[in-house]
Order: sequence, then structure tokens, then C-alpha cells
Amino acid sequence: MTAKKNICVLISGSGSNLQALMDACSAGKINGQIVAVISNKPNAYGLERARKAAIATHIVSYDDYSSRAEYDAALSRLIIQVNADCIVLAGFMRILTPGFVDRFSGKLLNVHPSLLPKYKGLNTHQRAIDNKDPEHGVSVHFVTAELDGGPVIVQSRVPVFEYDTAEELAERVNEQELRIYPLVVKWFCDGRLAMKDNKAIFDDEFLPETGYASD
Ligand code: GAR
Repeated sequence: MTAKKNICVLISGSGSNLQALMDACSAGKINGQIVAVISNKPNAYGLERARKAAIATHIVSYDDYSSRAEYDAALSRLIIQVNADCIVLAGFMRILTPGFVDRFSGKLLNVHPSLLPKYKGLNTHQRAIDNKDPEHGVSVHFVTAELDGGPVIVQSRVPVFEYDTAEELAERVNEQELRIYPLVVKWFCDGRLAMKDNKAIFDDEFLPETGYASD
């Protein structure tokens, strides 16, 4: 077994994905340890979750920086300081600069609540409902400079029912993300995942555009 990987998790909100990752790490399911949780929002509930688990927390607030570049430079310093092998965006609602993304290329993972490439950006659940999509879902992908455009590692699908509200659909999608994100981070920490030529590689094979099949 190789040394445990250092995982840094970036959040903005409730931290349910963070919780799933903390639980998987403490149960020994991931060969890694969460060395820092960084939030751009001082009141993110995820910070409470991290503190309860005695994980170091940091707030890097937009208000303290005058440009995106300065903000991302501060974020980079922190990530380097904690010696992160893997940077996990878990509901981090902030667009990162290309410079930041390049610097940590191949180590940055994100979870996005849609079946990418559908519905990049915000309000994904309502958009799926408005378009009368029969199914919706979640994607875990490597981060590249293109917003929500990096190669998909795993997707999980859920049905959309006729009278679903965005909240109901979000809840159904969230159940799936809590299942697939820890699995992807486990793979990453086991050295089974990489990114090359804007494609995701799993066990030395390029993954298809929809990622590893998971239904
Ligand atoms: C998750 O549903 C995640 O997919 C979404 O934010 C939520 C965070 O929930 N991410 C995005 O929309 C990124 N574009 P959490 O704070 O409970 O993990």
C-alpha cells in the first residue's frame, strides 16, 4: 500500500459531499486523508462538519481580494502549503482562473449536478425539468479551464418524474453524488486515474466521454 494521499476539499455550502468523503476516509475506504477544508463562505455548514471531525479549516473569502487572479493565488498558496495531492471541489461555487487550473492540472476533481456535457453552469435541475428530460444525473470530472468542460470520470443517472420539483430532483441527484464521488476519490488515491490529452484515464485506458459506466 502506498502512502496516504493528502486531500484538500473546497466547499461553499452544506458539505454533504465533504461529509461522504470524510466518512469514507475515516472508514479506511480511501487511501487518503483530508488535510484541509477551504471555504469561500465563512458560514458554510461544511466548515462545521470539518471542525467536528477535527480537520483544519480555512476561509478564503472573495471580499479580501481585489481580483480573481489574487484570489486564486491565495488559494494556490494554501493548497501548496498543505501539500495536497488531490484537490476536490465539493460544491465550490466559484469559477477558477485558467492559471490556477493549469497549475493543478490532473489533480483537480469536481462534481457537477448534470449529465455533462448537458447543463453546464447553474440551475441544472430546473433546466432538466423545463426541457422535460426523462433522466438527469450527476458527473464527476477532471477540472480544465473550460467551465464544467473537463473529461468525465463517472456519471450516475436518475429518473425525472412528471411532477418533480427542482428540490426533489436535487435530492435524488445528491444521493447519487454521495455514492460516486468517494469512489472516484478512492480511485484517484489508488493511482488508478489520470488525465491526458483532455481525456480521463482509468487503469491505463482512456474512458469514453460519458466516463466509467455506472447506473
Ligand atoms: C452538490 O449538489 C454539487 O453537485 C453542486 O453543489 C452541491 C453541493 O452540495 N455543485 C455544483 O453545482 C458545481 N457547479 P454539498 O455542499 O452538500 O456537497
